[in-house]
Amino acid sequence: MYILLMGPPGAGKGTQAARLVERYNIPHISTGDMFRAAVKEQTELGKQAKAYMDAGQLVPDSVTIGIVKERLSKPDAKKGFILDGFPRTLEQARALDATLEELGISLDGVLNVSVPAGELINRVTGRRMCKQCGATYHVVNFPSSDPTRCDKCAGELYQRDDDREETVARRLAVHQSQTKPLIEYYNQHGIYTEINGLQSMDTVFKDIISVLRSVS
Ligand code: AP5
Ligand code: ZN
Repeated sequence: MYILLMGPPGAGKGTQAARLVERYNIPHISTGDMFRAAVKEQTELGKQAKAYMDAGQLVPDSVTIGIVKERLSKPDAKKGFILDGFPRTLEQARALDATLEELGISLDGVLNVSVPAGELINRVTGRRMCKQCGATYHVVNFPSSDPTRCDKCAGELYQRDDDREETVARRLAVHQSQTKPLIEYYNQHGIYTEINGLQSMDTVFKDIISVLRSVS
């Protein structure tokens, strides 16, 4: 199963991707997670990406396309993947098409999790993540039993640097101008489906599964 998960910041892509990983046993490829890991490890890529992420801007295509190309050519991506947060520009979408063609892969579905802006701000500013295992919580919608610790691994919970309100507004504006045009792009490919993300996490997951059943 080759799945592309799209949607604005805070729509629930990561939350749903974690469930899809369990269901289909395929890797979750998130450019955001890759950049955050690089920042944590203080690699050259991390140093480059951090400034853009903190400013709520996209990391340049030349950098992002390269890391995705490399990741998709790893053996575990052959059996399927959930691509989350890539592509985000038309140039990235075209580069992805070329890479998939080289690999002999075609996408089964492009799912766009759609949520109105007001709720996105609420979700992003209330998000807390586990430093150790990366699990995602929300202070109201999905709290951990101890607000400072992860239920799964007892790791410390933290707020992402780019989840502060002023940066979130910029991320939403960037999504509107640079990523929304991809809806038209994938609509023309005939593999695009919109998912109502303004429902419970379980209902969103059910909707995603029913779309994937109909295409596989
Ligand atoms: P990235 O990490 O991809 O961030 P994003 O797209 O902004 O998405 P988020 O991680 O904020 O949200 P999500 O949709 O995964 O929501 P989640 O499931 O956590 O990118 C970060 C940065 O990296 C970018 O700004 C950019 O700088 C750079 N970058 C990444 N990819 C790039 C690319 N391709 N090109 C260039 N630069 C790139 O859920 C959010 C919250 O809501 C959680 O607290 C969750 O518990 C809660 N929640 C989830 N679902 C529900 C629900 N149904 N009901 C109630 N609450 C819910
Ligand atoms: Zn954890």
